[in-house]
Amino acid sequence: MIQACIFDLDGVIVDTAVYHYKAWKKLARELEFDFTEEQNEKLKGISRMRSLQLILEWGGVDKTPLEQQELATRKNDWYVAMINGMTPQDILPGVETFLQQARAAGLRTGLGSASKNAGLILERTGLLHLFDAIVDGNTVTASKPDPEVFLQCARLLNITPAHCVVFEDAIAGIAAAKAAGMKAIGIGDPITLQDADEVIPGLDHMSIEKLKA
Ligand code: G6P
Ligand code: MG
Repeated sequence: MIQACIFDLDGVIVDTAVYHYKAWKKLARELEFDFTEEQNEKLKGISRMRSLQLILEWGGVDKTPLEQQELATRKNDWYVAMINGMTPQDILPGVETFLQQARAAGLRTGLGSASKNAGLILERTGLLHLFDAIVDGNTVTASKPDPEVFLQCARLLNITPAHCVVFEDAIAGIAAAKAAGMKAIGIGDPITLQDADEVIPGLDHMSIEKLKA
């Protein structure tokens, strides 16, 4: 029996991939190489530093660890400037309704994100109060597909992993949920997310009745 719903943030609650893309592209341009949307797709669920390392690899550019820190900070400053302008209008369809439904049905709700900006995004979109536990990039050491983020969240919610369901848009996130021993519902393309227990286009296609079934 499902007792808790754990949500990824980027691509499930809000669509921040486009802001990440703009900021990474700007950085790549400064370093004089291109960064495509297809490449951006591969960075979903991947931590900031690991994303940067992949981008530098793709661009064939070598940087010292100190330079990498500076580049990541620069990208993040641009990214934060963009998400600072987010409002409740940026919440993806069906998200608030489903969160409210789940809580009304007695389910616990948690956030499991790789982002260090998760708190800021939830605050800007006015969603903070709908989560019983938040685990993000500031508290986890191993990023998805490692199950740490979801296991930490389940522990905070005081629910055993087998009774948790994770909503995820990233391949790495689905793998993390399965490795945690949880059910995984993919948000997006059924072919890309074939390891999920079920795939839906968005939370506007989910309800408590469907979840129970
Ligand atoms: C999410 C996104 C990734 C992003 C990561 C870290 O998992 O899908 O694209 O790199 O969070 O985000 P941050 O806000 O900490 O840079
Ligand atoms: Mg995501």
